[in-house]
Amino acid sequence: MYLSTLNLKDYRNYRQLECEFCPGINMITGANAQGKTNLIEGIYYLSIGKAYRLAKDEQLILWGAKSFQIKASAENRRGRTNIEIRYHQEEKPAKMASVGGLRLTKMEELSGALTSVLFSPDSMAIIKGSPQERRNFLDYDISQISFNYGRNIYKYKRLLAQRNALLKKLGPLPLRLEDKKEKLLIWDQQLVECGSHIIEKRLAVIEKLAPLARLAQRKLTAGKENIELNYVLCHKNNIDEGKDKDIAAFLMEAREDSIKEDLRCGSTQWGPHRDDLTVALDGVNLKQYGSQGQQRTGVLALKLAELEFFRGESGEYPLLLLDDVMSELDENRQLQLLNFINEKSIQCLITATEARNLNLREKRQIKRFLVDKGKIEEFR
Ligand SMILES: Nc1ncnc2c1ncn2[C@@H]1O[C@H](COP(=O)(O)OP(=O)(O)O)[C@@H](O)[C@H]1O
Ligand SMILES: [Mg+2]
Repeated sequence: MYLSTLNLKDYRNYRQLECEFCPGINMITGANAQGKTNLIEGIYYLSIGKAYRLAKDEQLILWGAKSFQIKASAENRRGRTNIEIRYHQEEKPAKMASVGGLRLTKMEELSGALTSVLFSPDSMAIIKGSPQERRNFLDYDISQISFNYGRNIYKYKRLLAQRNALLKKLGPLPLRLEDKKEKLLIWDQQLVECGSHIIEKRLAVIEKLAPLARLAQRKLTAGKENIELNYVLCHKNNIDEGKDKDIAAFLMEAREDSIKEDLRCGSTQWGPHRDDLTVALDGVNLKQYGSQGQQRTGVLALKLAELEFFRGESGEYPLLLLDDVMSELDENRQLQLLNFINEKSIQCLITATEARNLNLREKRQIKRFLVDKGKIEEFR
């Protein structure tokens, strides 16, 4: 799959941008704060239906404007699809999207229209950051291949907010615990059902992702390092217990165990919003014990695994967005990444502050762009 044209209107620092990308390598250079990351963010928005950095839609509007628009054409084996997203802060609904000219009723329906893998210096957070970062890593991938998953995440968040509001209300009331539990039950049943779908899907995806990451890591380290991915259910530190059991029953039990705590804190202490993913090298947690170099290689292996994962799911490689990462990788890892991209004919958008010689194979098409204060220009 590849992105052929992109059009941004009043998005971040772009008043009007029109760009045609080649299916090969697109090298985007520009000094700091000119709009390279904004461009990448705008493209990734089409894949996940929101900005990946913590920003509300209003903040994405060019300062002083009232709405933004992102339009793109994506090409895959079946042909060309037009994708469009518009956000207007004064309209209701504020956000509208269409794919192939058909208006979407839910943002999650964007799933699969443009699949992409994003690799930026922030990606290190998958290993070094909080569990939230690792859940996002999973969620952004899974929602791109499964509309249902995106729906479940949306539904789960809503249910969770409602349950938490009720917990806060019930907590201080002079009622018996049994009565409080009774009042929560209707939410809890739905939360458990929705939560178990989410966990089951995550487990299924990790099962596919893990061997791909392992293969990539072994390749990157000449067979020396074995990377392992494991899903950690928050309420029991051992996934095997969860695996043997049906996940819904497991969650129901977790609910039972933490009901007092839930009421005391006014928030739900169990469920997929508290789970984690561990990344280990030969049994040793990479976050706690890995060297900087091992962590970098680990992230690179995860990114390569994502590319293969998408291909396994959809039959096509996704678009690869490399925002400012080349300078972070040493020469050896850079070379391995570029070899991979070359071999597999993956479309790639690479941003950097300086144009660099990438030692690309000649057969790969390359286009070069310069970004300057929210304007982009092709150059040869
Ligand atoms: N909503 C917005 N409207 C206008 N400019 C913005 C908006 N959000 C961010 N910017 C500007 O975009 C610039 C950062 O662009 P960015 O893409 O991160 O740069 P870089 O080229 O270094 O990746 C900042 O200077 C910031 O002022
Ligand atoms: Mg940047």
